[in-house]
Amino acid sequence: MNSANKPNTFYVTTSIPYVNSTPHLGHAMEFVQADVLARWRRACGDDTFFLTGTDEHGQKNWQTAEKNGMEVAEFTARNTESFRTLTQLLHISNNYFVRTTDDRHKAAAQKIWNECSHDIYKDTYSGSYCVGCERFYPEKEIVDGKCPIHETELEYSEMESYFFRLSKYTDQIRSLIADDKLRVLPAKRKNEMLAFVDGGLEDVSISRPKSQLPWGVEVPSDSSHVMYVWFDALTNYISAIGYEDNSEQFAQWWPAQVHVVGKDIARFHCLLWPAMLLSAGLDTPRSVYVHGFINAVGGTKMSKSLGNVVDPDEIIATYGVDALRYYLLRAIPSDNDGEFGLERLGLVYNADLANGLGNLVQRVASMTVKYCDGAFAVAQAEKIDISKQLNDCRFDRALEQIFTHITIQNQRIEENKPWELAKNDSAAVAELLASLIAHIKTIGEALTPFLPETAEKIDAIFKDGKVDTSVGMLFPRID
Ligand code: MSP
Repeated sequence: MNSANKPNTFYVTTSIPYVNSTPHLGHAMEFVQADVLARWRRACGDDTFFLTGTDEHGQKNWQTAEKNGMEVAEFTARNTESFRTLTQLLHISNNYFVRTTDDRHKAAAQKIWNECSHDIYKDTYSGSYCVGCERFYPEKEIVDGKCPIHETELEYSEMESYFFRLSKYTDQIRSLIADDKLRVLPAKRKNEMLAFVDGGLEDVSISRPKSQLPWGVEVPSDSSHVMYVWFDALTNYISAIGYEDNSEQFAQWWPAQVHVVGKDIARFHCLLWPAMLLSAGLDTPRSVYVHGFINAVGGTKMSKSLGNVVDPDEIIATYGVDALRYYLLRAIPSDNDGEFGLERLGLVYNADLANGLGNLVQRVASMTVKYCDGAFAVAQAEKIDISKQLNDCRFDRALEQIFTHITIQNQRIEENKPWELAKNDSAAVAELLASLIAHIKTIGEALTPFLPETAEKIDAIFKDGKVDTSVGMLFPRID
């Protein structure tokens, strides 16, 4: 990451999910990816701030609350808790949880609106809106009258609206992205964003009359309008760090080093958000990392109606939190879409975690107990450097690199046969086990941002020259 502007400071965010339904694996993956970056930079000694939260305004939340016969504020407050709970179950190390219904957030959204007011004008809008995406679709992107992402009918509406002069920022945004001042990762997403900018940026409607949607942040100086949900939601990245109420804190953290977002919302983060910031005279984020989508096995979309949605809580209950973290980080390509299925999770779990890492730790610990009374000389092994991979947000490759070391150590056991050595050369077996333990400890250290609970256990098993057998197995086989 480019931290040239503020060395040793790292601010990372996830997008903030809508709370119209319960969290799914896509949300879990994004939380975990950002968590890896935060834990990694903290371990490198950076002052780190990690933000997540919930997006509670907009038509989607409003309509779902109505369908459920609930008062909307009560509905979003209730559902927010299921996202907060998931962050806890996943061992997410966020420093703050922002809600767009927080008063300080609303005040910040109004402040940035005021700062952008020289680029805001009133006009009439007519067009087709997708409630699922919370956005208008231009004719050229509509497929058979439907939203290209949700494949649902669009709602046509005509209304008076405030507009933001996004078009004015076309050239500036193009240069920011092209020159990597706003680094968009992976490269293919950067190219997509540039191609989109080349097609020309159009001004965007950024308010709704309250008569159509009464739920949102009020437009300053016009109480008959609420802000468009995206104008409001994007502001979370600065409202949470004191844009409106704590200038010292704001100066400490802004600009963000990385926004972690999905491919469907890359444009909002790479185009609209930087333009809002430029308009308000603020720095733009250093990078946006764009992940793909998790689909069901076979590439079909996961959806409640297809009955193939898997609840992250259930996976954690069966396989443990680090198994889910591992799957999301390793088995889903960091630069593309990936697939999730329970059978596949079981295979990955048994092959990599039970037979690979778990078995290595288990064998070495029990042989040390058997042949050396549990004692070992503390040795050093070369550290595993995954900084290049994590700089590029290649979580999958970083884990691949670490797991190569696991395979190598398991092979060393097979080749050197400590059980043979133990028969007549106790010094050699002690030396071999001490070296294996040193390598396991560097593996544990490298795994810390990815599998924090497992890394802690590894550390506890091989602490201070004595094997602790009370920690138990890392990953028992599940058949
Ligand atoms: N509320 C907006 C984000 C506002 S950020 C200022 C939103 N919410 S969302 O709940 O629809 O999506 C939240 C994140 O989950 C997005 O990054 C989105 O790409 C991601 N995912 C939603 N479905 C997904 C999958 N099936 N797979 C992986 N991630 C996906 O957009």
